[in-house]
Amino acid sequence: MRLANKLVVVTAAASGMGRAGVELFLKEGARVAAIDINADALAGLKADMQALGHEVATIQADLSRPEAMRGSINEAADRLGGVDVLWAHAGIPGPGGVENLDLAAYDQAIALNITSATLAAGEVIGHMRKRGGGSLVFTSSVSGLVGSMFSPVYSAAKFAVVGLTKSLAQRFAADGVRVNVVCPGLADTPMKLGFTGRSGIAAEAAANQERMLAAVPMGRLCKAEEVAHAVLWLASDDASFVTGVALPVDGGFTAR
Ligand SMILES: NC(=O)c1ccc[n+]([C@@H]2O[C@H](COP(=O)([O-])OP(=O)(O)OC[C@H]3O[C@@H](n4cnc5c(N)ncnc54)[C@H](O)[C@@H]3O)[C@@H](O)[C@H]2O)c1
Repeated sequence: MRLANKLVVVTAAASGMGRAGVELFLKEGARVAAIDINADALAGLKADMQALGHEVATIQADLSRPEAMRGSINEAADRLGGVDVLWAHAGIPGPGGVENLDLAAYDQAIALNITSATLAAGEVIGHMRKRGGGSLVFTSSVSGLVGSMFSPVYSAAKFAVVGLTKSLAQRFAADGVRVNVVCPGLADTPMKLGFTGRSGIAAEAAANQERMLAAVPMGRLCKAEEVAHAVLWLASDDASFVTGVALPVDGGFTAR
């Protein structure tokens, strides 16, 4: 078991990649706290994990609100008895352009994609120092490594997450805290439609997906579990000398 007795916190944990991570980390021996805004989905996650013989601590919080972000990290630390690993995974697609920008949508995208990650790091570092070290993993995107004409605001925020990762890797190294980021390609989760269906016209989503996958050498969507496995490795002691890395999980999309 690669996370035996590790105390692990996952944000945006009730769906998609975060949920896949919760299940995988529990199977790998971790004690897990799952934070999400969706109370019903958290209850479903808890029940599903119980059916597999695992207990997960669930915490409902709107991570776009700074006080809720900070409070939920501290509640998770209280309930687990500390934090060894944080996967700060929260993010949203945000507005599709900059023309006639909807500032409320812009602010929400910045709040969830970069402000929440920054606050999570600032809050969790004290808990990790108490444990003598830890592993902090963020979620960026392929759009955090190369620009996206369809998601300029998202791309800007996800580039910022990569910058945050590389900066904190240096800042926290002396504390024994490693900081890395996963950069998934278009993934087969509910959020996919936020990218492929931006125009809101269902008929276009399939065509958009086809166009996006045509640029992926492996020619398919990313699976939630594939990202969870990458995070497992970064979180575990197997990656003990790995810090400051932005790891694409993208079927070769950014290898061009
Ligand atoms: N799906 C993709 O194609 C893709 C690709 C690259 C990166 N990402 C990134 O992965 C992360 C999530 O993607 P996913 O595919 O697992 O998504 P998902 O849609 O399956 O799950 C997102 C989760 O975030 C929660 N959430 C939304 N707003 C929240 C808030 N304000 N506070 C707390 N929780 C909130 C939702 O309730 C949901 O459980 C994001 O950071 C996203 O930018 C997604």
